[in-house]
Amino acid sequence: MIAGAPAAGKGTQCQRIVEKFGLVHVSAGDLLREEVAAGTSAGQRAKGFMDEGRLVPNEVVVGMVKARLACDDAQVHGWLLDGYPRSAEQAEAIQEAGIRPDIFILIEVPDEELVERVTGRRLDPETGEIYHMSFKPPPEAVVGRLVQRSDDTEDKLRTRLATHHANVAAVVGYYKDVLVQVNGARPMDEVFSNIDGALSAFVEDHVPAAAA
Ligand code: AP5
Repeated sequence: MIAGAPAAGKGTQCQRIVEKFGLVHVSAGDLLREEVAAGTSAGQRAKGFMDEGRLVPNEVVVGMVKARLACDDAQVHGWLLDGYPRSAEQAEAIQEAGIRPDIFILIEVPDEELVERVTGRRLDPETGEIYHMSFKPPPEAVVGRLVQRSDDTEDKLRTRLATHHANVAAVVGYYKDVLVQVNGARPMDEVFSNIDGALSAFVEDHVPAAAA
C-alpha cells in the first residue's frame, strides 16, 4: 500500500514501482474517476465529493476497491494499492476481508510544498503519464493534449489536505508493523531509490529466487 498527502507523489512513484516490480497498480482515485467518466450511478454519486475534495462515502469506495483487488491480474502479480484506506473505517473494512499489505509506504511532504506540486501538475490522457510544468516538464509534442484535474486548485487542495491530516494517523495505526516512512520532499529519483530499497529488501527476504 502507498499513502501520503494529495500530490505527495504517490502516482509518480507507483509508475516506477510497477515498472520495476510488475505489481498491478490499483488507485482508488483512478477507479473513481473512471466511474465518473463512464457516468455510472457510483460515479454520479462520487463526483460531488471529489469536486469538493472530500472523501467519497464508503459504500461507493470499499466494494469497488475490494472487487479490483480480487481480479485475476492483481491476484497473480500482486497489487499496489494507492489512496486506500483513507480512514479507520476503510482500514477496518479491508482488514475484515482478510486483506493486509506486506509493506505500507507513507510518503511525507510538508504542506507548503504541495501547493506548487498540485497547481503545476498536468496529465497525459493518452499515456497516463504525470508531468509537472517545473519539476517534470512535458515534451513539446504532448503539451497540447495535457489536462489538469478539476480538483487541482489551491482551494480544493486545502480541503483535501485537511481530510488527509484528520485521518492519516488512524490509518497508519493499522500498519505500524509494516510501515516504511519516506521523505518525499526530495527529487523523484531519490524518493524512488528509498522505496526501491525497502521493496527489494522485502523481495530478497520473502520471495524465492526463481519467482523474484
Ligand atoms: P486521488 O486521485 O487519490 O488524489 P490524492 O490522494 O489527492 O493524490 P494525487 O493523485 O493528487 O497526488 P499523488 O500523491 O498521486 O501525486 P503525483 O504523483 O500525481 O483522490 C482524488 C479524490 O478521490 C479524493 O480527494 C477523494 O475525493 C476521492 N478518493 C480517492 N480515494 C478515496 C478513498 N479511499 N475514499 C474516499 N474517497 C477517495 O504528484 C503530484 C505532482 O507533483 C505531479 O505533477 C508530479 O510530477 C510532481 N511530483 C511528484 N513527486 C515529486 C517530487 N519528488 N519532486 C517534485 N515534484 C514531484
